[in-house]
Amino acid sequence: MSDPLDKLLSPARLNGLPLRNRILKAATFEGMAPEGTPTPRLFEFHRSIAAGGTALTTLAYCAPEPDGRLKDNYLYMHEGVRAGLSELSEAVHAAGGRLSGQIAHCGGFSRNRSLQRKRPVSASSYFNQLGALSGVLFSGEMGPREMDEVASAFGDAAAFMKSVGFDAIEIHFGHGYLLSQFINPKTNRRTDEYGGSVANRMRFPLRVLDSVRDRVGSDFPILGKITMLDGIPGGIELKDSIEVCRLLEDRGIDAIILSGGSSSHNPMLMFHGQSIITGLIEQEDNALIRLGMKLVGPKLFRTYPYHELYFLEEARQIRQAVNCPLVYIGGCTTVESFRTVMREGFDFVQLGRPLIRDPALANHLQQQREHYVNGCSHCNRCAGRIDHPQGVLCTEP
Ligand SMILES: Cc1cc2nc3c(=O)[nH]c(=O)nc-3n(C[C@H](O)[C@H](O)[C@H](O)COP(=O)(O)O)c2cc1C
Repeated sequence: MSDPLDKLLSPARLNGLPLRNRILKAATFEGMAPEGTPTPRLFEFHRSIAAGGTALTTLAYCAPEPDGRLKDNYLYMHEGVRAGLSELSEAVHAAGGRLSGQIAHCGGFSRNRSLQRKRPVSASSYFNQLGALSGVLFSGEMGPREMDEVASAFGDAAAFMKSVGFDAIEIHFGHGYLLSQFINPKTNRRTDEYGGSVANRMRFPLRVLDSVRDRVGSDFPILGKITMLDGIPGGIELKDSIEVCRLLEDRGIDAIILSGGSSSHNPMLMFHGQSIITGLIEQEDNALIRLGMKLVGPKLFRTYPYHELYFLEEARQIRQAVNCPLVYIGGCTTVESFRTVMREGFDFVQLGRPLIRDPALANHLQQQREHYVNGCSHCNRCAGRIDHPQGVLCTEP
C-alpha cells in the first residue's frame, strides 16, 4: 500500500491552481502591518514559508472595509495597500509558493474606535464584551443597505486581491466574526429571512460567497473557513455545521477549512494547549482593559488540553457528509498525524503554529520523513503576541 505521506508531498490542484504539495499555511494574524500598511517583516514571514516548501501561504485577516477591522490599525483592502501587497505576492511567487488572502470582517466583535458607521454591524444587536472597555459597547442589526454594502465590499476586496497577484481567496465564515455571527443562533436572533433555520442563517454568508465568486470568476479558488463547533451552550453545533458545509458545497465553494472555537466567546477551543490570556494581558497597553482581562479572562479562556488532531472526530463526520475538497486544521505536527489526515480522505492540511515554529516544515518533512520533529509545544505564546510591536513569532528555544 502506498504511503499517505507521498500523497501529502505530491503536487495537487485547487480549482485548477497547481500546488506543489497539499500543505497550506493557515491564516495566523501576523501583527506585521502595524499602521495598516504591509511591512518588509510581513514579506519575509510569508517568503520564508514559501521558500520552506509550503504550497500556499495565507495573508491573515484582510478586512473588506474599514469597519471590518477588529482594531483601527488592521489591514483593510484599498488602493493604499496595492504597492505593499504586490510586493508580498512577488516575494511569495519568487520563492516558488502561492498566495491566498483571508477576507475577514469582525462585525459586532469590534474594538475599532474609528468606525464609519455609528455602531459595528452584526446579525443582531448585542453587548460587545470585547469592545466594551474600548467604548464600542453594542453592535447594531444589519439592514438591507448594510447587507448590500458589506457583501459588495467582500467582492471588491477579492477582486482587488486578485489584481495584486493573490492566487486564492479564503472567506472567514468562522471564529465568531461577522459571517459566523449570522450562522450562530446565539448571535443571530433575527426573525426575518436571515434568521431562524440554518438555511436562513446562511442566507447572508452565501450572498457574500456569491459576491466574491462574481468578482473573481469561476476558475479562481475560493476557500471558506468554518467553525464546526464552538463549545458554547446554544452556539454552533456539528449537526448544523454539516448543513452549513452542504450549503457551501452546493453554492460552489472550492474547499472548506474545518476549524472550531470562537475568538469572541471560546478562543482556546480553536488552539488547545496553554492559555493565551497571560500573553494578551502582558501586551495590552490600556490599564483598564488589562484589569478587565484579568477579571473575565479565566472564565472566557476555558482551557482544552492539547492532543494531536484535536478536530479529527468532527472533521471526519463532515468528510462523510460532503464531496467537495476539505482542509483539515488543528494540532497536526507529527509524521503520523500527517499520514492520518491523508488516510482519512482530507485533501489538504492547513498548519498554523507548526509553520510559525518551522517555516521550512514542508522541505524538512520531504528530507527527513520519519525523523521529522516539529518542536511546537503549544505553549501558545505566539498567539499571545498578536499586539506585540515585533509581531507574531515563536519564542520557544
Ligand atoms: C498567532 C495566531 C494567530 C491566528 N490568527 C488567525 C486569523 O487571523 N484568522 C484565523 O482564521 N485563524 C487564526 N488563528 C487560528 C489558526 O489559523 C488555526 O486555526 C489554529 O492555530 C489551529 O491550527 P494549528 O494547530 O495548526 O496551529 C491564529 C492562530 C495563531 C496561533
